[in-house]
Amino acid sequence: MDVVLGIETSCDETAAGLLADGRDVLANVVASQDDLHAKFRGVVPEIASRAHIERINLMVREALDRAQVAPQDITAVAATSRPGLIGCLLIGLTAAKTLAWAWGKPFVAVDHVQAHALSPAIGLDQVPLPAVSLVVSGGHTCLMRLDDCTSFELLGRTRDDAAGEAYDKVASILELGYPGGPIIDKLASGGDPKAVQLPRTWLEPDSLDFSFSGLKTAVLYHVHGPGKTSGGLAKLTDQHKADICASFQAAVVDVLVGKTMQAVKQTGVRTVLVGGGVVANSALRSGMQQACDRRGIQLYLAQRIYCTDNGAMIAYLGWHLYKQGKIAPLDATATPTM
Ligand code: KG4
Ligand code: ZN
Repeated sequence: MDVVLGIETSCDETAAGLLADGRDVLANVVASQDDLHAKFRGVVPEIASRAHIERINLMVREALDRAQVAPQDITAVAATSRPGLIGCLLIGLTAAKTLAWAWGKPFVAVDHVQAHALSPAIGLDQVPLPAVSLVVSGGHTCLMRLDDCTSFELLGRTRDDAAGEAYDKVASILELGYPGGPIIDKLASGGDPKAVQLPRTWLEPDSLDFSFSGLKTAVLYHVHGPGKTSGGLAKLTDQHKADICASFQAAVVDVLVGKTMQAVKQTGVRTVLVGGGVVANSALRSGMQQACDRRGIQLYLAQRIYCTDNGAMIAYLGWHLYKQGKIAPLDATATPTM
């Protein structure tokens, strides 16, 4: 049996996962730092790095204990090496390389966005290929084409804010709390998605790129008045806030679904994978499902537990890389950008 340990520390979750034979998740433990960053309404990199240092060994030990796996049973150690907050990446990467060296196991460097892209296939007998994969997270929004489970062709990406970032910023504008995605998701269910007219940014006709910063600014001006950045919040009722959440969410979902369908059309590939933190969103899940059903497209949404950052998805792509002999040297470094 092949057992891969996957370590994830690229942003504000300290996570470790164990995967057997590329299919069975034996353990998937995540220490969220939401409480540490909430009062700043966003991730503070230095606080995140320090919390990773305190928690990483605990997470690895917890994963091994839960799975009843001993270090000698591990086949390879994988960790996120890019993209992400550099201080945060370095903690997980250094922990993983140290364990690989101490245990005498191969080390595998994993791209976080690619791990999200492949995460909908966790638990399947094989990755359904070729596929178009949409990744929607707090740090990234992009469309990729996959012809092989370790080769990712970028089709389009956000030119400004990621979709999750837009959720977090709109939640900050409405002073709802952090992270904004789950809160807006919940409030939106009690709002009218047609109540507030908000823009959908499609960019050039053939472009598979995204842009969400205009939408965020439109919400800001709707709340405070044209050109204003404060003073309007106190006038909003709870129902009005719910309507803003629902209208904002409808705009995000329209663009994500529309661009994904455009990618299907342009590539001729009729299998779609969708992964990343925002895929936990109920409106996105149902909107994408309806659009794919209507066109007879095969859709694989990441299971909710594998949407936000986790170690299982790192172990999963790590296993595929290991199987293809894509082992990384112990002097592999972290890269903050995609
Ligand atoms: O993938 P992820 O854990 O981290 C990055 O790689 O960035 O994604 C985190 C993002 C946050 O912006 C969070 O607000 C968003 O995912 N998110 C959601 C939901 N749950 C998490 N967005 C919308 N609806 C949700 N239910
Ligand atoms: Zn992520």
